[in-house]
Amino acid sequence: MLIDKSKEMFARAVAGAFASAFPQKHAEVGPNEVFSYEYVLDSIERPKDPRMGRFAFPVFRASKMLGAKPDAIAAKIAEIANSELERMNSRRILSVEPVAGFVNARVNFDLEAHETLRAVLDLGTAYGSSETGKDHTVLVEYCSANIAKPFGIGHLRTTILGNSLRRVFHKMGYDAVGINYLGDWGTQFGKMIVAYQKWGRGGSEQEESVYDLVDLYVRYHREAETDKSLDDQAREAFRKLEDGDPETHRLWERFKDISLAEFKRVFDLMGIEFDWITGEAFLNDKIEPVIERIRAAGLTTVSDGALIVDLNDPQLPPCLLRKADGATLYATRDIVGLLYRWEKYHFDEALYVVASAQSDHFKQVFRVVEMLEEAEKTPPDQRIAHRARHVDFGWVKFGDKAMSTRRGNVVVLEDVINKAVELARQKIREKNPELKEIDKTALMIGVGAVLFSQLSVRRQKDVSFDWDEVLNFEGETGPYLQYTHARLCSLIRNYRSPIAADIDVGLLNKEEEQRVIEALADFPQSIRDAARNYEPNHVSTHLIRTAGAFNKVYQRKLDDGKIDKIISDDAALSAARMAMVKAVQVVLREGLYLLGIEAPDEM
Ligand code: ARG
Repeated sequence: MLIDKSKEMFARAVAGAFASAFPQKHAEVGPNEVFSYEYVLDSIERPKDPRMGRFAFPVFRASKMLGAKPDAIAAKIAEIANSELERMNSRRILSVEPVAGFVNARVNFDLEAHETLRAVLDLGTAYGSSETGKDHTVLVEYCSANIAKPFGIGHLRTTILGNSLRRVFHKMGYDAVGINYLGDWGTQFGKMIVAYQKWGRGGSEQEESVYDLVDLYVRYHREAETDKSLDDQAREAFRKLEDGDPETHRLWERFKDISLAEFKRVFDLMGIEFDWITGEAFLNDKIEPVIERIRAAGLTTVSDGALIVDLNDPQLPPCLLRKADGATLYATRDIVGLLYRWEKYHFDEALYVVASAQSDHFKQVFRVVEMLEEAEKTPPDQRIAHRARHVDFGWVKFGDKAMSTRRGNVVVLEDVINKAVELARQKIREKNPELKEIDKTALMIGVGAVLFSQLSVRRQKDVSFDWDEVLNFEGETGPYLQYTHARLCSLIRNYRSPIAADIDVGLLNKEEEQRVIEALADFPQSIRDAARNYEPNHVSTHLIRTAGAFNKVYQRKLDDGKIDKIISDDAALSAARMAMVKAVQVVLREGLYLLGIEAPDEM
């Protein structure tokens, strides 16, 4: 089951009502998104006040298209949907009513609760999985850090967003391919080679770190201020590297290995996975034929000796393919890379999870590929420009307190994580000194805090990173979700009977319990939303809602002021509540997994 059956039925009724209420418009615009079942499904909201119903479909966009008042449309749609549901004798949907620009629905709670608990307990962490993406391939490029530099927090957000999107697409049945496209080529490597040959310590690779490389690079720039011959030497070294000179190539390989070893440590620490680690250099021998193709298609002009493609767009500067000195550029490589990825994967979508600052760059790259397809008259099913997408995101703002982790000019990610883990360890010691696996748990929580901090806001918004906030066990944080998960596990451990879905759902009749069940039923939709908007925040927001709803149940008081315990002497009631507890635990674990975060059983 992907989507709650009651919601599906409501969406069908609304979409059907549009078709019969406005047959003319419907025929005119065809399966326009505003009237489609999928559109309706994805637009359905929760009424702010639960007493107003379980679902609310906003009619504002439809009303714009139809040129009629929202209230009139809502009334008409509700009327048709109601009579259709009556005709079908539906047990699921109790009523459909117009409410100020919305069409609201009330549902049979017991049925929804029964089906939801059954689905979660039967499927376990496969709950919410679907086959939507079967036989479809989506490439997700993320991280793409630059070698010979430490892994800084500049590449934190892309790494976390991309890693999560890869998991989300997997969950939806796509063949999701995680790509790390390292910045491993450029004239700076000429400088590195010269510096290394002059001042490098040598020794075994294990003894060298990226910090040694950074030191060399810094020294190069210092000395180049007085020694004017260095830049010529660097140019010469880079030329040799491009020509495949074995000695310079060996050094470049060494820089790359040192960097990769360093990156891998960070990836392992954070549980980040890739299917293909590649880089700009990999494309070297593939550039010339593509430039030739673009030229043959008649798209290039020469300007001051440089080869450019005019994009015929006042918003975009021309795309520079090759400089007057023959050097190719970042954009050239991305054009070549996109064509290569197509050959290799025949993808349905190719995502680039890269900061918003590079938005013009990707527009240029995709536009050149589009122009090439037009010029070469590529058959529509072979076209790829429209399948490529820049999944952009805002800045990470670091509070002043984090500056102690600055080395040189970058905030080093490993330092940030180590500090988060240390702070988590201190917290655990205060809260639960008896805990057996403190180190392991502190790692999960420290990393979880850093990961969640990047996913707790919409990607296009800036994130501000604040130590007190990200590690707060009570706020909207990773540790809060992990803590709630551990609490659920502890309840399950303490409940000595087996947990099953065949319970009397009628016993889950408290408002707080209903909110929990609804949140569980909405989990699959949050995954669907995350995929269609390339936005893991839909999942993180959903988990906060689910955990919050559960904690209200957990803390609920009886009339006499005592806590209404989940496990009590009432066996049937305890069994019903424990089925719910188990379902929440499963959803939290799986949701955290989709975000890339581990869920401790105890903390
Ligand atoms: N290495 C680049 C940087 O750190 C990011 C690469 C993004 N991906 C791409 N296909 N251009 O800024």
